[in-house]
Amino acid sequence: MKIAPSMLSANFNQLLAEIQTIEPYSDYLHIDVMDGQFVPNISFGAPVFSYLRSESQLVFDCHMMVQNPERYVADMAKAGADIITIHAEATQHLHSALQKIKDLGVKAGVALNPGSPVALIEPVLDLVDLVLVMTVNPGFGGQSFIESTLSKVEELADLREGEANYHYEIEVDGGVNDQTAVKCLQAGADVLVAGSYVFNHPDRQQAIASLRLGAN
Ligand code: DX5
Ligand code: ZN
Repeated sequence: MKIAPSMLSANFNQLLAEIQTIEPYSDYLHIDVMDGQFVPNISFGAPVFSYLRSESQLVFDCHMMVQNPERYVADMAKAGADIITIHAEATQHLHSALQKIKDLGVKAGVALNPGSPVALIEPVLDLVDLVLVMTVNPGFGGQSFIESTLSKVEELADLREGEANYHYEIEVDGGVNDQTAVKCLQAGADVLVAGSYVFNHPDRQQAIASLRLGAN
């Protein structure tokens, strides 16, 4: 299993120093890009994390909560994203947008809001490297985990088992803490995103270790 701390909960006044506190214990850096349209908030764009690229070895896991994300995927790739995940609900051209990401030489992910079914993305499952199951409604850190989303994690794990050409990782995002992490891992998640749990913890190394305990 992999841990992806979400930069959204870091202190933006000292981003590099914040990332260095989690880097030795983490696998991905989860980067939440919000446009004020797909979600109410505006966070940051490619120029912000491009400054961090040369300073960090972490996999940059870019979660685009952006309407018509195909407009920005080239910028994200150029800024150093290793994985670009777009929402199925945010584009009318999901297949071509994912193909565009892959053509940039970057891993492609597809995300599902809590209200969206797995069926919405079934036609693109053979194309993607990652499926992000939102376990809260997107837009804010620090929300409570929505238990009913776990059945989608199970469904995706079962589908992957049955289809030799599916190779996606299953990532969960929102409300992940030491309690909910266990449930996510039991359901079949491979990557745990955690923002407020890690960055608000007095000992971030300990916080990440407690998330990993759920895999045992
Ligand atoms: C929410 C973002 C999350 C957020 C998670 O829209 O996609 O990545 O940072 O924050 P926590 O872990 O605090 O729920
Ligand atoms: Zn996210």
